[in-house]
Amino acid sequence: MRDSSQKKKTISQMFSDIRKEYDFINRIISFRSDRIFRNIAIKKVTHLERVLDICAGTGDMTISLLMKKSFKGRVVLCDFNYDMLSLADSKLQKLGLRDRIDIVIGDAEELPFKDKSFNAIIMGFALRNLESIDAFGLESKRVIDGKGKVVLLDVAHPENRVVAFMFHLYFYKIAPILSRFFTKNKYAYQYLPQSLKTFYNQKDLISKFKGLGFTKATYQNMLWGISAIYKLRR
Ligand SMILES: C[S@@+](CC[C@H](N)C(=O)[O-])C[C@H]1O[C@@H](n2cnc3c(N)ncnc32)[C@H](O)[C@@H]1O
Repeated sequence: MRDSSQKKKTISQMFSDIRKEYDFINRIISFRSDRIFRNIAIKKVTHLERVLDICAGTGDMTISLLMKKSFKGRVVLCDFNYDMLSLADSKLQKLGLRDRIDIVIGDAEELPFKDKSFNAIIMGFALRNLESIDAFGLESKRVIDGKGKVVLLDVAHPENRVVAFMFHLYFYKIAPILSRFFTKNKYAYQYLPQSLKTFYNQKDLISKFKGLGFTKATYQNMLWGISAIYKLRR
């Protein structure tokens, strides 16, 4: 990681610390809805061939994509954290999918790829961790080709008041307590909900991406906005 800031180092260390329980806690605190949302997100790129999974972590977005019979392409997994990518590597080996992927260590805000290298970018649950959405957006636009698609899935801000109230109670209060039963790292599961509090809402994020020059930028709420899928076109 070149010129990495303190925030990036702290985040990367946090993911190293929780890597072993990361998948398990995701399933528990999301009641497995993360899997459903991932499947909906990746459907938008199954017809494409060269896909980049940015902030790939333990590889769950890539696995969802490669498990789709209609997807015949290859995926490059990119993340700045070696430990998370090592887990992705072993999971993909066990599933017999290792020959359809490449793994690259790199920063989402300074991607180590040539211009127009990919037909699509996917990203799961990582937008809130980025230091600069501007840098990420511009880099994504640079590495996809003319018809390239960017599909980003993340936890979001519910737009219905009742759902927002219940979600806030669960996500900010109950989920961090639940997580403590499964990890010694209290900081991580306090940080993750806090990172949403200060993050853009869906409409603001779409305006941000349009401002970065994407010709199309739309979002689709999952369960009234507890998560959202953002679709961008170069
Ligand atoms: C919450 S995990 C998401 C992992 C995976 N995409 C998923 O859907 O489960 C966030 C991942 O983003 C990575 N990450 C955060 N900031 C990054 C950056 N600037 N460049 C590359 N990876 C980054 C972390 O190392 C971590 O693996």
